[in-house]
Amino acid sequence: MKVDILLGLQWGDEGKGKVVDVLTPRYDVVARFQGGPNAGHTLEFEGQKYVLRSIPSGIFQGDKVNIIGNGVVLDPALFKAEAEALEASGHNLKERLHISKKAHLILPTHRILDAAYEAAKGDAKVGTTGKGIGPTYTDKISRNGVRVGDILHDFDKKYAAAKARHEQILESLNYEYDLTELEKAWFEGIEYLKQFRFVDSEHEINGLLSEGKSVLCEGAQGTMLDIDFGSYPFVTSSNTVCAGACTGLGIAPNKIGEVYGIFKAYCTRVGAGPFPTELFDKTGDQICTLGHEFGSVTGRKRRCGWIDLVALKYAIMVDGVTKLIMMKSDVLDSFETIKACVAYKVNGEEIDYFPFDIEGVEPVYVELPGWQTDMTKMQSEDEFPEEFNAYLSFLEEQLGVPVKIVSVGPDREQTIERYTEE
Ligand code: GDP
Ligand code: IMO
Ligand code: MG
Repeated sequence: MKVDILLGLQWGDEGKGKVVDVLTPRYDVVARFQGGPNAGHTLEFEGQKYVLRSIPSGIFQGDKVNIIGNGVVLDPALFKAEAEALEASGHNLKERLHISKKAHLILPTHRILDAAYEAAKGDAKVGTTGKGIGPTYTDKISRNGVRVGDILHDFDKKYAAAKARHEQILESLNYEYDLTELEKAWFEGIEYLKQFRFVDSEHEINGLLSEGKSVLCEGAQGTMLDIDFGSYPFVTSSNTVCAGACTGLGIAPNKIGEVYGIFKAYCTRVGAGPFPTELFDKTGDQICTLGHEFGSVTGRKRRCGWIDLVALKYAIMVDGVTKLIMMKSDVLDSFETIKACVAYKVNGEEIDYFPFDIEGVEPVYVELPGWQTDMTKMQSEDEFPEEFNAYLSFLEEQLGVPVKIVSVGPDREQTIERYTEE
């Protein structure tokens, strides 16, 4: 069997959580491969809303196995809060949620370092989620990290060594902090974590694949936030692209099956960094209001703009996307016209490829008629308005990949699969 991968193609928050939940019944296993509690994946069903940060979005569908892979960074305190909330709402996790021994731990001092580095950057700050993501991946790459598997081996010594190093850095930055509360919650988290199954997830996943089991990998963030291919340095610290699933789970490239690329019918971004199609006018405010564009983790207002097909084409290329999923179509239901960026203007010259630096590029738009129809109760593609079909055809022609799923609202049920010929 092969693994299918679902990835955000924009700057995150495309609706990955919702679609992973919808697709889970078709798989035996769901696995996260990168990122950590910087993610906020929202799911809505049966009148309930859940936001997941570190736990895969396959956790609500039956008895599927969910795996937190080696590429993920895990904060035990936040994990405990998330898992306990799920257990309190009647979802039993202990048997079904497996955690890689090779996943790195986010230490309390990583969170402090995240804040200290941001403060030191002043106006150039990234606008991180403050969850210690960058410092944890930095320690992983510089071979100073502490891993989940270390909890069972010489843990106190490893923790103390990492903490002492961090304290030295914080002192050199003259950063004031108080660890007491954070550390207390963190060690409670470590004790809680011990009740879960720590696994060699690369062995587990490859073993399951050879038994004929199917696996869906759930990306966090989005391609434009990838450490290599995103709008560096305004990115996260992991590989959010398709290849991240190989390194973050121990899956060989020739085991990859479908790559689902997910995008919003428009575009959003949280935090700092270039965003060519950002709108600063009434239309931007309208998208923000209609789409409830506020961060699910930080509550920050998301910046909104039109869809950027130059960036999307780039993401499709680096990810090898085979099927597209368009989210939040309903947010544009009332618009008379809709714009799509098809090229950038750089120093007066028009380009249709994603350049080294997108700072200051000007979007070149095509304007299409809106469908001005409430799509939120639609059940099948046969009900799509003509203008909506024209918008989809335009996107497919520009992007060269079929749009297989259209989402018309936040609920699990508001998902329409398209069966049109490829
Ligand atoms: P993720 O990080 O990619 O999982 O996305 P988030 O959960 O951070 O943000 C997506 C937001 O849009 C959530 O509040 C979802 O409930 C909501 N959502 C998902 N799909 C749709 C949709 O088709 N229409 C509308 N209106 N909201 C949606
Ligand atoms: P999901 O999985 C949107 C952004 C932050 C910041 C940058 C770096 O819900 O789509 P970090 O804390 O990772 O060091 O922050 O990345 N960011 C996200 N934006 N959705 C996310 O996750 C994000 N995770 C990180 O806002 O600009
Ligand atoms: Mg999110």
